[in-house]
Amino acid sequence: MYSVGIITASDKGSRGERVDKSAEVIREMVEAAGYNVMAYEIVPDEQDQLAACMKRFSDEVKVNLILTTGGTGFSRRDVTPEATLSIIDREAQGIAEAMRYNSLSITPKAMLSRAVAGIRGNTLIINLPGSPKAVKENLDYILGPIKHGLEILMGDATECAEPMAEQK
Ligand code: MTE
Repeated sequence: MYSVGIITASDKGSRGERVDKSAEVIREMVEAAGYNVMAYEIVPDEQDQLAACMKRFSDEVKVNLILTTGGTGFSRRDVTPEATLSIIDREAQGIAEAMRYNSLSITPKAMLSRAVAGIRGNTLIINLPGSPKAVKENLDYILGPIKHGLEILMGDATECAEPMAEQK
């Protein structure tokens, strides 16, 4: 069972002025997919604080997967992608590309998410947009394939070849 850390980037949420529905959606979906949520934090939209939280979840809590929500848009306070890029070792561009590709069939506004994904040590970090709707749409699409990515990252799988019908 892989472990997950959830980080919500939200000024209002960090001040207790907003119920964090997006994190709840993430928790429900990852638990239903068999993951164990080991860490959760609401962090203001500050690049250094977001980066520090990602580092702590990766290096100290040692979660396998960090899912962030929020702060991927065009507001001056949206700095989650910059925080992520500042602490990852390797970018996993295909995941962000896939999320935008799929989301564009739902709303053209998907092009406004600057979300990135990458790997720090043994932790895969993925930015999700902020709304509960966007979180659900994106996780629905990526949860299957990222499980295989985690298996490869952790050394639990080395083989990608599968019959086409089984590739999800
Ligand atoms: N992706 C999906 N699948 N569904 C959505 O409703 N909303 C978009 C986009 N991605 C959306 C989506 C909108 S309106 C914005 S502004 C950006 O995500 C950035 O969102 P954020 O600033 O909350 O991270």
